[in-house]
Amino acid sequence: MTTLRTELCDALGIEYPIVLAGMGPVAGKGEPVASAELVAAVSNAGGLGVLGGVAFGPDVLRAKIREIRSLTDRPFGVDLLLASAFLQTRARGEAGAPAPRPAPPRIPGESLAAVRAIAEELDVPWLEAPRGASGPSMLPPEGKSWAGAQMEVLLEEEVPVFASGLGSPAPFADVLKAHGVKILSLVGNVRAARQVAEDGADYVVAQGTEAGGHTGRIGTLALLPQVMDAVAPRPVLAAGGISSGRALAGALALGAVGGWCGTVFLVSDEANQPDLQKQRILDATAEQTTVTRLYSGKTMRNITNPLIEAWERHGLQAMPMGMQGLLVRDLLYSIEQAGRPDLLMNAAGQTAGMLNQKRPAAEILHEMVEEAAGVLANLSGRVTVEVPA
Ligand SMILES: Cc1cc2nc3c(=O)[nH]c(=O)nc-3n(C[C@H](O)[C@H](O)[C@H](O)COP(=O)(O)O)c2cc1C
Repeated sequence: MTTLRTELCDALGIEYPIVLAGMGPVAGKGEPVASAELVAAVSNAGGLGVLGGVAFGPDVLRAKIREIRSLTDRPFGVDLLLASAFLQTRARGEAGAPAPRPAPPRIPGESLAAVRAIAEELDVPWLEAPRGASGPSMLPPEGKSWAGAQMEVLLEEEVPVFASGLGSPAPFADVLKAHGVKILSLVGNVRAARQVAEDGADYVVAQGTEAGGHTGRIGTLALLPQVMDAVAPRPVLAAGGISSGRALAGALALGAVGGWCGTVFLVSDEANQPDLQKQRILDATAEQTTVTRLYSGKTMRNITNPLIEAWERHGLQAMPMGMQGLLVRDLLYSIEQAGRPDLLMNAAGQTAGMLNQKRPAAEILHEMVEEAAGVLANLSGRVTVEVPA
């Protein structure tokens, strides 16, 4: 059997330095792409599966963690977003009274009108999304924050690895360390890398702009060495574009201890998204992704579609995270009801252009391992190196 190990494997108790990115829900649906089934498949294949836990309230999160444990006895992780909105504590109600619900933010009328105009342009009949179902559905329990309540579950369930996709691990670093939980923090620039390293991240994940989902502006090849220099000797994983053994080998050669991989697993059998969306990723070229603030208010890479093009053409100012979702919720609901899959959100990275086969996650992972090992083992056959004594 092929060996491909780094210090990450020893520290996390895994066989190969390949980590499944903790991908959350797409198209506003509650279930994440990196579901229990995909997490277990990656962990069972020798990598580290990471659950996209951001949208799960405490009870469901606990159930999902237990489901993973029923499918694998290998290590795994949970990814949450530590955005400021998820760290705000919900006030307690007066004795006996229900806790107050936060007032819904006010969306400017002209933004709403522009969104309606986009629907008209795209021939999508306007419908209002049912308010009950889509209210602030991510409402923290009384006296807790959304992320704080999730974190309690991670600790109680003894999850060995926590990944933060956004924000600093500072509020939870001490307690996580006291419980022996390893902390991975995603960053897209050097400033954030320094911050999360100072705030307690055990591993910094340098995510280049190639990545699917929320992403920054700097390419992986440029970002990785700069992040490594900034946080040394803290170990760094590479993310964004790691969809082949060749790319993984390149990242390891640069000094990364592993790859954090999203897009390549989006087209796995176990990835929790409709076949239609998988097929669009398989069909896409590397140029058919666009970074847009349309869906969440933050820059997010998606397979291009006419809705994104219309939004960008209108030149609208996106609202902050949370509010942007409220701004576009009727539009996205109308699109869904109109049965317009051509307009659906489909987060994916630039390596969509090299993916052309849907298959089991284990097969994807093992092929990456074989290819990376082959590249690294044969490097001396292709590159002549002489280092003077
Ligand atoms: C569909 C999708 C959903 C994502 N959701 C999350 C998330 O909830 N949390 C997070 O930390 N990263 C999320 N990401 C980003 C990934 O963690 C990862 O950094 C990225 O996919 C790596 O680049 P790659 O797509 O080129 O492999 C998401 C990415 C995709 C494609």
